[in-house]
Amino acid sequence: MKFLHYRFLVVVTALLIITACNSGEENKTVTSESMSLKVGVVKIDFGTVDGKPVYQYILTNAKGDQVKITNYGATVTSWSSLDKNGKKTSIVLGFDSLSGYLGGSPYFGAVVGRYGNRIAKGKFKIGDSTYTLAVNNGANHLHGGIKGFDKQVWDVAETADSLPVLSLNYLSKDGEEGYPGNLKVNVTYTLTDEDELTIEYTAETDKPTVLNLTNHSYFNLTGDHSNNILDHKMMIKADYYTPVDTGLIPTGELRAVKGTPFDFNTPKKIGERIGKVPGGYDHNFVLKRTDSSLQLIASVTDTVSGRKLEVFTTQPGVQFYTGNFLNGSIKGSDEIPFNKNAGFCMETQHFPDSPNKPKFPTTLLKPGEKYHTITKYRLSVE
Ligand code: GLA
Repeated sequence: MKFLHYRFLVVVTALLIITACNSGEENKTVTSESMSLKVGVVKIDFGTVDGKPVYQYILTNAKGDQVKITNYGATVTSWSSLDKNGKKTSIVLGFDSLSGYLGGSPYFGAVVGRYGNRIAKGKFKIGDSTYTLAVNNGANHLHGGIKGFDKQVWDVAETADSLPVLSLNYLSKDGEEGYPGNLKVNVTYTLTDEDELTIEYTAETDKPTVLNLTNHSYFNLTGDHSNNILDHKMMIKADYYTPVDTGLIPTGELRAVKGTPFDFNTPKKIGERIGKVPGGYDHNFVLKRTDSSLQLIASVTDTVSGRKLEVFTTQPGVQFYTGNFLNGSIKGSDEIPFNKNAGFCMETQHFPDSPNKPKFPTTLLKPGEKYHTITKYRLSVE
C-alpha cells in the first residue's frame, strides 16, 4: 500500500512539472537551465551591475545548438554546438559567471561602441567642432572609451520566447565618453536552425556623431581554449589592408596584400606566416565586395573539430585579431588560462580612425539617418 502511495506521488509530481513547463510561463525568469533545451529563449539571473539586474539569455534552435547572451555589454558568452565527433563544446571564449566579465574581460563576445577600434588621440572633428573622447589605450581612444557599450547594462525588449531571437536596446546619452548626440542603439541576435548567428545593428542620433559598432567574439573552433588557433585555416576576401603605426593607428595607406603575410584570398593556416607580422595579426582588411549587401567575406576551418565558420557582412572592413594580448593572466571558469592566440576575432566594421581619415568610408551619422548593418556567422561541421 505504501509502495502504491509512493508511485502515485511520483506520477503526480512528474505531471505537475510537465504542466508547469508547458503552461506558457516562458516569460518568467527561471533559476536553473532545466528548461533551456526548448527552442526559443530562456532567461536566467546572472547578477547585478550598477544596481541593475543582469540576465543571461539562452537561445536554442531546433538542432539543440545554443547561444548564450547577457545584457551586460550585449555579450555573447557561449555558442555551443556538436563537433565532428558528436562532442558539444563552445566555439567562443567567455565566462560562466558575471564576475568574469567584471574582472577585466578583454571584450570577450561584447558589442563594442560607439566606436569599435581606435580613434587617434581621442580627437575628431565634425564640421568646425572638435570633440575630445576618453583616452583608454595609450594616447588613443579604444572601443568606445573607459565605459563603452561593452560595460553597459542593456535593456531587453520582450519578444516571443518561442523564437531564438534577442533584441537589446541602449541609449547612449549626449556627451557619453565625449561623443556628441543622444544615440539610440538596437542590437538583435537571431540563431537560425541552420546554425547561423545573425547580428543586426540599428541606431539613430539627435546630433551628428560618429558610429562604428561591432561584436568582439573570440572564436576557437576546437571548442577548447587550451588549444591555440594557429592551425585554423583562414580565408579573407581582401586585396588590401590598412597598415598601422606603433600605436595601432592606420597610417591612411591602403596596402596591397599580394606577396605579404596578409594575403588570405586562398586559405592559409593562421600560424603559417604570423611570425612575420610583428605582434601578430591585429589589422583591418579592406573587403573585396561588389556592393553593400550581406556577402560572404571570410571562412575559417579547423580539422580537429571539423568545424567551419563563415562570416557574412554588409560592412566594408574586418579587424582580424589573433588574441595577441591574451597572456594567460585571465582564466576561464574552468581555471584554464586564456593564453596568447587562444582565440581569433573577426570584427566586421568600418576602418579604425575613420573620423580622422577623410579617404576612408565615412562613419558619420546625422539626425534623420538610420544606421543599419548586418553580420552573420554561419557554423557547420564537415
Ligand atoms: C581589438 C584591437 C586590439 C585589442 C583588442 C582587445 O581587436 O584591434 O588591438 O585592443 O581589441 O584586446
